[in-house]
Amino acid sequence: MSYRVVFLGEGRVGKTSIITRYIDGKFSETQASTVQAQNFPKSVKVEDEMVPLDIWDTAGQERFQALGPIYYRESKGAILVYDITDIDSFVKVQKWVKELHKMVGTNIAIAICGNKIDKERERVVKQSEAETYAQTVGARHFNTSAKSGKGVNEAFQYIAREIMIR
Ligand code: GTP
Repeated sequence: MSYRVVFLGEGRVGKTSIITRYIDGKFSETQASTVQAQNFPKSVKVEDEMVPLDIWDTAGQERFQALGPIYYRESKGAILVYDITDIDSFVKVQKWVKELHKMVGTNIAIAICGNKIDKERERVVKQSEAETYAQTVGARHFNTSAKSGKGVNEAFQYIAREIMIR
């Protein structure tokens, strides 16, 4: 048995890149868009326990999203990703939180990743605002960069731990 964790967020925010960084320790500047959802089994060590996760990468682009609910309905955790240089992608995260709470319930563990922090100078989403928002919906906010690797382990650790204790 493994616990399903779904990645959701607008196209090009870095969902596939965060997963690739976590699982393979790699990053590609030319990562192609996800056309079809794909899963990656991965066990995460939390203290002395292994928490088996089934990580689902979904397609962010609207035209590939027809199967949406199939991927998140059974999820125990969600990692919602936005790009700190794109305000619309942060608005989209807020829509996903509402959708998940409605469709899956409020017990789902949610991590919100403000990704591409290696592009801090181009930031348009205020960190304090994103953190406050995450708190108000019972989620945890992480600053991540799939490029440098910053914050990526922390987000997975958080989700695995929350799934274990909920
Ligand atoms: P969809 O499959 O379309 O939903 O996109 P996605 O959210 O999976 O994004 P993807 O991982 O394909 O990355 C999109 C682009 O952003 C690629 O060119 C990546 O190289 C780039 N990218 C992803 N993460 C980062 C990051 O942390 N920093 C920088 N500078 N670029 C990133």
